[in-house]
Amino acid sequence: MADLESILEFTTQLAETAGDLIVQMRATSQLTSAYKQNVELVTNADTASDDLITQAIRDKFPDHQILAEESQPDLSSIVHDDTPVWIIDPIDGTVNYAHYHHQVAISIAYCVKGQVQVAVVYNPFQAEMFTAIRNQGAWLNDQPIQCGNKKHLNTALIATGFPYVKQGKLATLMACLETILQHCADVRRLGSAALDICWVAMGRMDGYYESVSVWDCAAALLIAKEAGAKCGHFSQVPTDYPKELYPENILVSNPVIFDELNGLLSSAVMIKE
Ligand code: IPD
Ligand code: CA
Ligand code: CA
Repeated sequence: MADLESILEFTTQLAETAGDLIVQMRATSQLTSAYKQNVELVTNADTASDDLITQAIRDKFPDHQILAEESQPDLSSIVHDDTPVWIIDPIDGTVNYAHYHHQVAISIAYCVKGQVQVAVVYNPFQAEMFTAIRNQGAWLNDQPIQCGNKKHLNTALIATGFPYVKQGKLATLMACLETILQHCADVRRLGSAALDICWVAMGRMDGYYESVSVWDCAAALLIAKEAGAKCGHFSQVPTDYPKELYPENILVSNPVIFDELNGLLSSAVMIKE
């Protein structure tokens, strides 16, 4: 098996190449858009980035498994044995990307037995490369990062996001938002879950909560954990799902305010469900 440093080197180079591709496609107005299930925006750059990343992984590691949002999103295709799994979001923040905003990332996680070992989240529009190796630390552009240590919720800035399909979920979404707005300084909705979590990891945000898909958060959660943030859930995790990768009701924050945030969000969810 390849060592984790070489996996990281391969993955950062791949994220940079995919980043150059999506920057180039946007700069040269090559974008076309469509809607998945009539609601979720997807561009030809999402597909091109997915193709580039998955092909490079297949060429280098033909026996590894791949879970990729645009080409291989089927969780049930993953065999739970020792074979490594790559979890890929080829563009996290597609709506931002299509609207010419800068909060856009490529997210790649290298995972063994339900645990992410190497993580890369790259924002090519701001040249910010977030990386982590399990038990070895987290970095932004090769400099070690550490989450913040704010003690009081009333000064804490909290990131969140909302699903494309809101039907049946609005009451819970609003209950969570209400309690966070009541107790914390303010809320941000960046439009990229991977960057939200990385921003907690390097102290630009104090906390983040949302329900997402596994490719949105797999890499960023290791980055946050290695930067000293606490990651968990404000609802039960099914016993048959690798806990670290369960993407529903995730909460990431500096460890000082985690329990308080968890209490607020757990109560909000319980009241509404
Ligand atoms: C979305 C972003 C967004 C989050 C959504 C995700 P996409 O990913 O991460 O911040 O709120 O739930 O689906 O569609 O841009 O890859
Ligand atoms: Ca995403
Ligand atoms: Ca995506």
